[in-house]
Amino acid sequence: MFEKLQKAPLDKIFKLLAEYRADERTDKIDLGIGVYKDKNGNTPIMSSVRKAEKQIFDEATTKTYIGVSGNRGFCDAIADLVFDNSVDGSRISSVQAPGGTGSIWVLLQVIKRARPNGKIWISDPSWPNHYPMCQLAGLEPNYYPYFDHETGKVKFDEMLACLDGLSEEDTVLLHGCCHNPTGANLTNDQWDKVAQSLKRTGAFPFVDLAYLGFGEGLEQDAYGLRKLASTQPEMMLAFSASKNFGLYRERAGVAFCIGKDQLAADIAFSQMGNVVRASYSQPPDHGAEIVRVILNDKDLRKEWEGEVKEVRERVKYLRKKLANAIRERSNSSDFDFIVEHSGMFSLLGLTLEQVNELKKQSAIYMLDDSRISIAGIPEEKIAQMADALIKITR
Ligand SMILES: Cc1ncc(COP(=O)(O)O)c(C=O)c1O
Repeated sequence: MFEKLQKAPLDKIFKLLAEYRADERTDKIDLGIGVYKDKNGNTPIMSSVRKAEKQIFDEATTKTYIGVSGNRGFCDAIADLVFDNSVDGSRISSVQAPGGTGSIWVLLQVIKRARPNGKIWISDPSWPNHYPMCQLAGLEPNYYPYFDHETGKVKFDEMLACLDGLSEEDTVLLHGCCHNPTGANLTNDQWDKVAQSLKRTGAFPFVDLAYLGFGEGLEQDAYGLRKLASTQPEMMLAFSASKNFGLYRERAGVAFCIGKDQLAADIAFSQMGNVVRASYSQPPDHGAEIVRVILNDKDLRKEWEGEVKEVRERVKYLRKKLANAIRERSNSSDFDFIVEHSGMFSLLGLTLEQVNELKKQSAIYMLDDSRISIAGIPEEKIAQMADALIKITR
């Protein structure tokens, strides 16, 4: 049977990682994979997470099934963290899912059931998994204008003009904060305009929230999604705890539906549960329980908020240091946009040829579209990076 198929293309990020690992040069730099690295180059387990894990180890009494909708305490704590009081709680329903990806998957299935012929709109460019996930769910993905490669900023007028032309059959997938891959984000004023546009056209908002707290702060990063939650009759949101709790491999996420009223939210809940049961039956509990413990314990929560702040400030510091190093060497402000971006990534706007040359000449590895993971920059190699970037773009 299998010989009738062809090998599926390797995910770009994992292909790059394999290339990086095979490179024997000792001064090589990996800017590809989207994980946070501390100043020692490690992706550490947060101290609040370790403490919560110890508590769970000491106190848990069973490993019996958790149920289709997962860890309810986790979902409720994330609902509070994300939405605060922006929407009446009776209109929100949620299921825990395996990470942000699992949450997006469950929600796409529900969209497909409700709007079998609907179109879904994703930013140009977007997280590389959005497009294939929409396709696999049987939804037709389209791009709305988003990133201006010349200026490193959001092409907001073009984006808004596109959104203004949508209808009630359309779904718009928006990055809640810390846009991946570009690093360029909407201002609060632009979020207000997006909310007005969606309200006017009736297009359905779907927010992907994978980096809450990594941009400007836990509250500031929630501005856009809360604006939507407080103004739109319906919406969806996929939350990931992979990055902001450092729980990448534990697969903790939440799929949220906001309905017009409680009845609509209940219907959405049963549909999500039905998808989950037929997909993987129930989500893994360990990561979710860690988050539940942290968010419900005053001291642990404070400690976690401090740890998120530390990550956020380190990423900002690395952004500044890289942009300064380039400016000092080149006397040009061409890469100043790196400081204006926020979150783990920046899209540098290089050509594929330049990206390949950087790999060949300087052992610097970034994604083909020139996305770099700022959160993975080794600080001691910033000068080397700046020199290489100037050389390649001169
Ligand atoms: C925009 C975006 N959405 C979703 C995800 C999925 O995260 P998870 O690892 O929790 O599945 C990522 C992870 O890189 C992401 O960047």
